[in-house]
Formats: sequence, C-alpha cells, structure tokens
Amino acid sequence: MIVKKLSLAGFRNIKNASLGFSGGINILYGKNAQGKTNILESIYICATGRSHRTRFDSRLIDFNGHEAHIKVEIENMGRQNRIDVHLKKDEKNGVKGIAVNGIPIKKSGDLFGTLYCVIFSPEDLQLIKNSPGERRRFIDMELCQLKNVYYYDLGQYYKVLKQRNSLLKKIQKNYSFRDTVSVWDEQLAAYGMRVIENREKFIKKISRIAGEKHSKITGGAEKLEICYRPNCHAEELLTKTAQNLERDIIFGSTSAGPHKDDIIFTVNGSDVKVYGSQGQQRTAALSAKLAEIDIIKEETGTSPVLLLDDVLSELDSARQRFLFESINGVQSVVTCTGIEDIAKNYSGKGGVFFVENGNVTPAIKNKA
Ligand SMILES: Nc1ncnc2c1ncn2[C@@H]1O[C@H](COP(=O)(O)OP(=O)(O)OP(=O)(O)O)[C@@H](O)[C@H]1O
Ligand SMILES: [Mg+2]
Repeated sequence: MIVKKLSLAGFRNIKNASLGFSGGINILYGKNAQGKTNILESIYICATGRSHRTRFDSRLIDFNGHEAHIKVEIENMGRQNRIDVHLKKDEKNGVKGIAVNGIPIKKSGDLFGTLYCVIFSPEDLQLIKNSPGERRRFIDMELCQLKNVYYYDLGQYYKVLKQRNSLLKKIQKNYSFRDTVSVWDEQLAAYGMRVIENREKFIKKISRIAGEKHSKITGGAEKLEICYRPNCHAEELLTKTAQNLERDIIFGSTSAGPHKDDIIFTVNGSDVKVYGSQGQQRTAALSAKLAEIDIIKEETGTSPVLLLDDVLSELDSARQRFLFESINGVQSVVTCTGIEDIAKNYSGKGGVFFVENGNVTPAIKNKA
C-alpha cells in the first residue's frame, strides 16, 4: 500500500501543505525544528488515530489556530481510499473526528486496516535499554493495528484496571467495599488472558523473523531471540489477582497482570540489555523493527508504509545498506537533516522535499 498524497492544514507548525509521494523512498530534509517529524506524525495519526508523540490532541493544532486537518489518499492493490482527520480545540483535550472515504468512523478501532504504518525513530533504537513500558508499547502498537479484537481487549483491560485500582483506594478508607472487588477481578482476568495469549503468539513470530534479520546483518555470527516475560501466565491471572488482594489494597494498585509484562532480547543466549554492546542493542532493535514490516505483509498481504524519523544518521553504513535492501518495495517516508546523510545508499527513485519553517517544497521532481 502507498500514500499517494498528504494534505495538511493548521497541523502543528504546518499552515498548509500538499505532498505527492512516490511508491519508493520519499525524503523530507531540512534543519532541526522545521516540521519534518510533524509530517510523519500526521501520517501515523491517519493509520492509528493517535500521535506517537503525545496523548493530547490539542497539541497537534497550530498554537495560534483552532483547528487542524489531515488528509491522506491511499492506494492499496488498485483500490483508492481516503482518510480525513479533523481536530478542533476545546477547553479539554480537543475534539477529533475521523472519516474513512467520507464516512465518519464510530470507534477508533474501525480505522485500523485502511492504512498500515511502521514508524521508526531514534528512540526505537533504544528499545532494549528503555523501560518495560516502551517495550510493551512496541508490541501493542503493532498488534492493535493488526487485530481489532486485541485493540478492544487491551482498551477494556486498562479500563477495568483503572476501575479496580480506584476501588482499592476506596477500600483503604472503607473496608466494606472489599466484597465488590471480585466482579472486577473476573473481568480483568478475562480481558487480561486474551492480551497475554495474543502477545505470546505475536512475540514468537517476531522473534523468528527478527532472528533471521539479525543473523543476516551479523553474517550469521549472532543468534537473536526475543522472549516474552509475562508478569503472570494467562491461566493463573484470576487466582493471582485474588491472592494479591490484601497487598493490592495496601498499595492501592493491582500488582499482577499484563500491564507489568516485559520482553527480553538475547543474543547467543545472553541478555542484550545486560551484556550487549551498544551496537548489538541497536542491531537487535533494527531487526525487531524490520520484522514488524514483514509481519504486516504476512498477515495482511500488503506492505505497510514505513516512516523513518532521523534514524539513518544513527546507523553505520553497513546497517544503512541493510535497511535500504530490506525495505525494497516498501513505500518509505524518511526524514534527515542533510541529504548527504543518505546519498550513498539512496537510489534516487522517489520524491525529495525540503522542509523549512513549516513550508514544504518539492526539491527534486518525483521520478517514480
Ligand atoms: N501545536 C503547534 N503549533 C505550532 N508549532 C508547533 C506546534 N507543535 C510543535 N510546533 C513546532 O514544530 C517544530 C518542530 O517540528 P518537528 O518536530 O517536526 O521538527 P523536525 O524538523 O523534525 O526537527 P528535528 O530535525 O530537530 O527532529 C518546532 O519549531 C515547534 O515549535
Ligand atoms: Mg524530527
């Protein structure tokens, strides 16, 4: 699938822009703080309904404006689709309306499937060093795009978790509420079990594909494995939640469940977070990200759009080359500060845009 056209109005520092993309590698270049990441962010919002940088929709609207519009035109296996996002400022967090082919969607989950995106930014190269929360997000972001029911289960799980936690705090003040917890426990376990089972399957798959990528990058010297470390096994969730109740009341929060899960990366059997060099950690993260693209292809029969934010300057020449080889046939939108960063490995097929102070100008005419 490819994004053929992106139009923006009043979105962050971009007053008005219209970009026609090619199916190959599209480059956005310009100095720091000009609006390059803002453009990638707008595409990501069309795919997932939310920003990868903020939970606050109002921040997406021009400081001085009241509303913002994003429009993408997509081509997927000969079919044309359009996504329109309209953001409006209000006293709270802003109001968001999304329409697919002119029809407003009712639930954000209904958006998934029209546009698949994989975003890759310098923070992703830190995936292994980052907090468990970031690693859960990495898994969830992809699973949510691929599985509408996972998106629903995860959302419900966190909703019930919040309700259980607020009840725990109430019990601290009034113990008579204690008997009402079991209702939440059952729901928490039902949604939680499905989240755990899906994560388990997905991590097995990503481990296999990322392992192949990692082996290629390292010339067969390193065997990468990605292992799920669930906080609690699916079948034990209900019992554990009930067992921990007294403790949970004291702390006012739920101690067992997939909200505490983690994944670990091992190379040749040892934990990369603990023993790996910086280069190994980055290579493992790169392999995991590239595996995401393959999984989307496998599961949906179409390539996602790859958004590469500033990562090229962070990779050495060999890894850059591997990345470009791996994304052959995948539409990419790439940001960089200097075109020379990527000149060595760039075939020249695609659009090049110069971004300055929120203005976007085609620098080289689209070739493909
Ligand atoms: N809501 C907003 N309204 C207007 N301008 C905004 C808004 N949010 C962010 N900006 C501006 O957007 C600019 C940052 O844009 P962006 O993050 O896309 O930069 P960039 O070109 O990717 O830079 P870098 O190369 O440093 O990553 C900043 O100047 C910031 O002040
Ligand atoms: Mg940026």
